[in-house]
Parts: sequence; C-alpha cells; structure tokens
Amino acid sequence: MSLYTQALQRFYTIMQQAKHLPLTYPNAMTVATADAQGRPSARIILLKDADAQGFVFYTNQQSRKGDDLSVNPHAALLFYWEALKTQVRVEGHVEKVSDAEADAYWRTRPLESRIGAWASKQSQPIDSRKILEDRYEHFAHQFADSNVPRPAHWSGYRLIPQLIEFWEERPFRLHERVCYRKQQDQWTTTLLNP
Ligand SMILES: Cc1cc2nc3c(=O)[nH]c(=O)nc-3n(C[C@H](O)[C@H](O)[C@H](O)COP(=O)(O)O)c2cc1C
Repeated sequence: MSLYTQALQRFYTIMQQAKHLPLTYPNAMTVATADAQGRPSARIILLKDADAQGFVFYTNQQSRKGDDLSVNPHAALLFYWEALKTQVRVEGHVEKVSDAEADAYWRTRPLESRIGAWASKQSQPIDSRKILEDRYEHFAHQFADSNVPRPAHWSGYRLIPQLIEFWEERPFRLHERVCYRKQQDQWTTTLLNP
C-alpha cells in the first residue's frame, strides 16, 4: 500500500468514527486560502469527497475564497474532532472539479439549496435581508416548472494533497504527530515533535 493510500485509509477511519459522534457536521473543516498578497482568510466548509484524486468541496467560485483561489490556487484544510482528540491538517494545490462532476453533485442537493445558490451572490455586500429573500422567491418562481440548473459559478474545488498530518492528543502534552509529505512525486512519513 502506498504511503498516500495509508494516509487516506487513516483519514477514512477517523471520518467513520466522527460520523458516529453526535455532530451535525462531522465533515466540517476549516478551509484557509490566501490572496495575491499572501494575506490569509479562513472559513468552515463541508468536505464532500476524499479519495486518491484529492479532497473536494463545493462553493460559489465568485466568493472571496473563489477570488483567492483564482490568483493563488493553494489551500489548507483543517479538521478537529474534540471527542476523538484528533486534528488533521491537509495542504496542497487546488483545481476546479469538472463540470460533469459538479453537475452530478448539484443534482443530489435539495431543491431549496439549489435555488439558494442562485439567490446568493456569496461574499458580496447586500443592502437588506429582504433583497436576498426576494431573489430567492424570484428564482423559485423562475424555475418552478423546470429542474434548477447549476449556476456556472457554483462548483467544486479539489485540493490535491502535498501534506497530510495526523495529530493525536496524548498525556503530558506529548501528542503524536505523524506527517505524510509529498516531495518530488514521492510520499514520505515523519514523526514531528508536538
Ligand atoms: C457548518 C458550516 C458549513 C458550511 N458549508 C459551506 C459549504 O459547503 N460551502 C460554502 O460555500 N460555504 C459553506 N459555509 C459558509 C462558509 O463558512 C462561508 O461563510 C462562505 O463560504 C463564504 O466564505 P468566503 O466569503 O470566505 O468565500 C458553511 C458554514 C458553516 C458554519
């Protein structure tokens, strides 16, 4: 088994455990991006997929994070499950998912979320909440008799990992940190001081 597969398997095991916790969003993660000047920003996003190709999340690509990723296609993901005493960091470069992949996921989303994606100009200022609600009603009416199509700016990103680190809480602050890192196409694994 390759080291990357080993890291993925470890991530799946943790995610399975997280899904059994009383959490609404066991797959919530912090996504950090940076703008052209290297200034960071972070927000919570739901992880939709993690496999040999990478870690996928969906959003509005005209949002602040979308602007960041268009000029600086690198990101860091961060998971923490207190009950599991576990933190996972994933870092790498980011690509857009294909239209076909985004369409397939779009079709699984509830109708209200699909209309909401049309209504929200994510990260743009808005004068009142009523404007947003009116836009929701407008699109609900516009698409009343049809399948709601995916807006071109609503899609996914795939982070292709170059680093995955597992942190486990241990007594006396002697936590365990195992870092998988890809360098020159080769994965290595190292223990780090806590
Ligand atoms: C639990 C939770 C889950 C979220 N999931 C998503 C998501 O999957 N996609 C998304 O675009 N925003 C999601 N958000 C909203 C983002 O945190 C953020 O407000 C939004 O994407 C705009 O970020 P930006 O202005 O930095 O681009 C979620 C927020 C929370 C608290």
